[in-house]
Amino acid sequence: MDNQNNILITGSSGLIGQILLQNLPSKYTLSGIDLKTSSDSRTSVANLLNINEINHYYTNIDTVIDLAGISNLNADWNQIYHNNIPVTYNSFEVAKQNNVKRIIYASSNHVTGLYELETPYSDIITGNYHKVDSSKLNHINSTSKIKPDSPYGIGKSFGESAAKYYSEKYGISVICLRIGTVNKFNKPMDIRQFATLLTHRDLIQLISKSIDAKSDIKYEVFYGVSNNKWRIWDLAEPAAKISYKPTESSEVYRDR
Ligand SMILES: NC(=O)c1ccc[n+]([C@@H]2O[C@H](COP(=O)([O-])OP(=O)(O)OC[C@H]3O[C@@H](n4cnc5c(N)ncnc54)[C@H](O)[C@@H]3O)[C@@H](O)[C@H]2O)c1
Repeated sequence: MDNQNNILITGSSGLIGQILLQNLPSKYTLSGIDLKTSSDSRTSVANLLNINEINHYYTNIDTVIDLAGISNLNADWNQIYHNNIPVTYNSFEVAKQNNVKRIIYASSNHVTGLYELETPYSDIITGNYHKVDSSKLNHINSTSKIKPDSPYGIGKSFGESAAKYYSEKYGISVICLRIGTVNKFNKPMDIRQFATLLTHRDLIQLISKSIDAKSDIKYEVFYGVSNNKWRIWDLAEPAAKISYKPTESSEVYRDR
């Protein structure tokens, strides 16, 4: 959105938060909150479980990039129930109280992770490409029914549901990004990641385009993935709606 440049990143001491703080264009004024300290002076220590502790960080913020939460796929339900769900709810609620205009919510591909047990997706993510007719591949998109694969995925489904509520009821513009795999090595580390990799450069483009997208975006769900030959997720929707066009592909890391 035009002139919507005051941005708060929750979970800013984490992997993606650090990438964003270091690489988002300087036209944005960035601040962050996290449980953990950071060498970056723009991050303040705060616990999103405590609504009174975080409220003032949302004052005069135009866009929240909501990354905070336990990011471990193997987190048990107790961790999701006691941390990720209230953290996400509190962030939406405080954003509403402070008239934040847009929230970019870090959802996850694990909202639809169980498709990976079904063909042809199972063949792709295990590298059995010879079994797949790629010309007939139906990419999973925002209209595919959700199929969470874990308590972590259930927690992210909750976040998308909260996003819909705050969008419809209070008019906050929300973009939910079902992020693929962002890792510190910035390349595929196993066979699945040839399908799921989101490179740091493409991540920055996706977040920048989400910040800058027109204000008529009410509620959208996009997958966040690079232009990988064997991706299983749709990129037509974010291309059409926010002009996200990834420029990198995991295939350059394939052994020749
Ligand atoms: N990295 C990926 O491949 C990937 C993929 C899909 C979705 N995501 C999601 O994107 C977000 C960022 O991912 P990441 O890889 O940077 O994860 P990360 O674990 O490196 O960072 C998450 C940050 O959230 C903070 N946090 C957790 N609970 C908090 C609380 N109660 N109060 C304040 N801060 C709290 C943590 O201290 C941590 O610094 C996460 O929500 C993650 O689930 C990441």
